[in-house]
Amino acid sequence: MAVRIRLGVNVDHVATVRQARRTVEPDPVVAAALAELAGADAITVHLREDRRHVQDRDVRLLRQTVRTALNLELARDPGVLAVARQLRPEQVTFVPERREEVTTEGGLDVTADEQGLSAVLGPFRELGVRSALFIDPASAQVRAARRVGADAVELHTGAYANARGRDEAARRLEDLRAAARLAHEEGLAVHAGHGLDYWNIHAVRDLPALEEVHIGHAIVARAVLVGMERAVREMRALL
Ligand code: PXP
Repeated sequence: MAVRIRLGVNVDHVATVRQARRTVEPDPVVAAALAELAGADAITVHLREDRRHVQDRDVRLLRQTVRTALNLELARDPGVLAVARQLRPEQVTFVPERREEVTTEGGLDVTADEQGLSAVLGPFRELGVRSALFIDPASAQVRAARRVGADAVELHTGAYANARGRDEAARRLEDLRAAARLAHEEGLAVHAGHGLDYWNIHAVRDLPALEEVHIGHAIVARAVLVGMERAVREMRALL
């Protein structure tokens, strides 16, 4: 029987359009509700330290309105961590964050600070919140993610999505396959995300043990033209 891969729809870009005018629309909370009606299995938002798109008001409302699962992306910023602990989303996904980046650029270097990450993950475990670490598909990072006590890894698919030519894409896909296999062997759940779209999802959905994908840009870009529900339904159908 085919396994249903969960689709987490990232609505950050809806907030980005709203913040371009510092107004009240479009509302990512409304977009999230439409995404759920169309078959999203989770709603993902990244509460950045600089609050450039998603605001505290958004995550608080989403906590009350999301019917599927709320996946909160965050970095190790004390203020954001406090919000996350108070909100208790179903899942937190840790990402690196740099102010000058346009979007999350690389995976977390888990090997560089295992003690620090363990300390950050502990309280979420006690609260019953699942934790994922967004990492590049490298065996050292996967093993470190297991050591620090994460429940899942989200494999960074950006290098695959941005690969130039078939050879590079094949190599990047093989990196993802190997990392997914190892994560599964280590007892970690396998998620994937970044740069996924309606074309490159075909290869990614066949990664070993893949349980969940998180997709933002491609879905919101299509939603601008065809509506949120149709954009989500069309991605759901490809998975
Ligand atoms: N997963 C993570 C950890 C991310 O940081 C992002 C971007 O916010 C995404 C998935 C979604 O990436 P995209 O917008 O390219 O689909």
